[in-house]
Amino acid sequence: MELSDKVVLVRVDFNVPMDNGDIMDDARIRVPFATVKDLQNRGARVVLMSHLGKTSDQTGIRSLRQLIPYIENIYKSSVLFMENYLDEGAKSLIEKVPQDRLILLENLRCHPQEESCDLDFARKLASLGDFFVNEAFSVSHRRHASVFGIPQFLLSDLGENFKKEIKNIEEFFNHSSGKRMAIIGGSKLPTKIKLLKRLVAKVDKLALGGGIAGAFLSYLKNDPTGIFDFKEYEPEVKEIVENAKKFGCELIIPTDFSALISAKSDHAIMRSENSNTTVFDIGPDSVKLLEDHIAASDMVLWNGPVGLFERSPFEFGTKAIAEFIAKRTQDHQLISIIGGGDTGFAMKKFNVADKMTCISTAGGAFLNYVENEDCPALEAIRISRQKFR
Ligand code: 3PG
Repeated sequence: MELSDKVVLVRVDFNVPMDNGDIMDDARIRVPFATVKDLQNRGARVVLMSHLGKTSDQTGIRSLRQLIPYIENIYKSSVLFMENYLDEGAKSLIEKVPQDRLILLENLRCHPQEESCDLDFARKLASLGDFFVNEAFSVSHRRHASVFGIPQFLLSDLGENFKKEIKNIEEFFNHSSGKRMAIIGGSKLPTKIKLLKRLVAKVDKLALGGGIAGAFLSYLKNDPTGIFDFKEYEPEVKEIVENAKKFGCELIIPTDFSALISAKSDHAIMRSENSNTTVFDIGPDSVKLLEDHIAASDMVLWNGPVGLFERSPFEFGTKAIAEFIAKRTQDHQLISIIGGGDTGFAMKKFNVADKMTCISTAGGAFLNYVENEDCPALEAIRISRQKFR
């Protein structure tokens, strides 16, 4: 498509982790690079729009202005920052900006209408451009004005990275041959119930780690530590276990754990009952068990660390599994798809991020897509195509 003199609005996710004004990881700023450069090379003026921070977080909504030096450095384009993009005349201002500059709008979430998906707000945003590109897969689960609203007013498409993210997940589920294994960790079972229900119907093996594994051990009355008690979620766990049987999905549940036994952070491997402990990781037998199953699989989808990897010595399980998956991926014996904020962070910590087939930049959006194979962002693009094609 000819884009000379056209303004393209690009929804990006520059919601980067920050510490005292410094960016801890700039991966999300790099994600839209290819899309943005392609648009600029085709003559378009590019307007970047993002959020940074959450209304509900202590740090709250933060200004995107502080990201300008990072963006200029990565994109090698100077950035024009716009705070008052809802004012009349904003569009004609944009049209006067030299084409090789990037235009960055202030944090969309400064306006409550963004999160409430106010369609008048979406219409105003849409009026700033001629086309819309969503290159923010990590926000694709949000029914916000910039994700779900804008495409209703502008011809819209997905960015290259967004397409790649969904292709990776689709390929995992729809590949016609090969053994599929999912590894689901993390501490909060309620956030993973829907995911587990879907996965048992879709994969050959489902391995559990983190606090989630405890709920299954407790239900199966197979808990070596005697400390897990997840009565609250028993009906859900029962349904998942029964469905696993029905769909022929093998459940892989850790057999030993690493536990904190004193405040001085001494730890012990739990194989027998001891109720004075706090379990923080899987043990060496469980690592071996998981490795054997990974070695018997062709594709692995991993979401959620299997232990408290941020704290030594409880990084053991997550690190060992990460290194094993990375090695098999590098040896072309495994396709590895890693998703979720903590899991991605763990891969970076253990220096295996670039050894996996793909690491999603998304957290909640990755989970949402795996659960539903659809998302509000895609729904909006479909609406846009129907309206404007
Ligand atoms: C993320 O960090 O997962 C995305 O930027 C979405 O952020 P949100 O959870 O605040 O919507």
